[in-house]
Amino acid sequence: MLVVEAVEFLDAGPGLYVDCTVGLGGHAEAILEGIRGSSLVGIDRDPEALAIARERLARFGERVRLVEGPFDQLEQHLRRLGIEHVRGVLADLGVSSLQLDSAARGFSFRFEGPLDMRMGPSGQSAADILNQSSEGELERIFREYGEERRARRIAREVVVTREHAAIETTTQLKDLIARAKRVRAGQREGRVDPATRVFQALRIAVNRELASLESLLDEAVNLIEQEGRLVVISYHSLEDRIVKGRLRDGARGEIDEITGRPHAETQVLEVMTRKPVRPTEDEVAANPRSRSARLRAARRI
Ligand SMILES: C[S@@+](CC[C@H](N)C(=O)[O-])C[C@H]1O[C@@H](n2cnc3c(N)ncnc32)[C@H](O)[C@@H]1O
Repeated sequence: MLVVEAVEFLDAGPGLYVDCTVGLGGHAEAILEGIRGSSLVGIDRDPEALAIARERLARFGERVRLVEGPFDQLEQHLRRLGIEHVRGVLADLGVSSLQLDSAARGFSFRFEGPLDMRMGPSGQSAADILNQSSEGELERIFREYGEERRARRIAREVVVTREHAAIETTTQLKDLIARAKRVRAGQREGRVDPATRVFQALRIAVNRELASLESLLDEAVNLIEQEGRLVVISYHSLEDRIVKGRLRDGARGEIDEITGRPHAETQVLEVMTRKPVRPTEDEVAANPRSRSARLRAARRI
């Protein structure tokens, strides 16, 4: 999503670019086609997505290298390839359509499936978190990561339900949320399904999305050479807040505790997007999932 805009902001001339969320390779392909003299390292923690990207990008030959792993280890991945600096870094956060539309991955309440929600092959699943976390921890997850107003009631319902049998499927969770909210499963709650926020919260917790994003931004800023670019597309307000804050801090510099003034040498970014760039109406009409996308970009100084 926002492919044309992403390439425009990212383009800092010939050099090496990193797509930290290569997914099915759409943005990567546009970078390789659109930025003259570019080569690309593509990272993703999802081996299924990487296999598709590998095929799609094969025609670019040695201009592309793909790496399986989490993007919060960006520096380590690049060091292994002998790379110290890059011209630009792109992150198109969240889940891919491949993940969202696969019942077996358990990301969506639209399909019956196991409550997995892991973007990669390792770590705790959503079912593990639901069946093993304390009531207080579940409430925190639903409230903080889902901004769910009924967090406490839903956490209670999880604990009561799992006393009888483990919670294993998307449908079980969807029904349980409807019970806690005293609505019919599937009945709308404003613009969204009553289960939307809890599913989002679990996905964020399973994949440690917010902490990973913070590490990624710190590492990316150190790796980008002067005049290089950082472009991030996010899909919910929790992510966007982190991106906005990191870009603002990088532009302002660290504040000296004594003088109250920023240290000039810590002013490392110039923000290129005063407001986040949103998809056009045409893009939203063609692809309703792009509705929540927000792009922010910065130049390394
Ligand atoms: C929205 S999709 C990217 C789609 C891609 N831009 C394209 O054109 O096909 C997000 C991708 O980021 C990956 N991802 C999310 N968080 C990640 C992380 N912490 N480390 C590595 N990959 C991650 C997901 O597995 C998913 O494939």
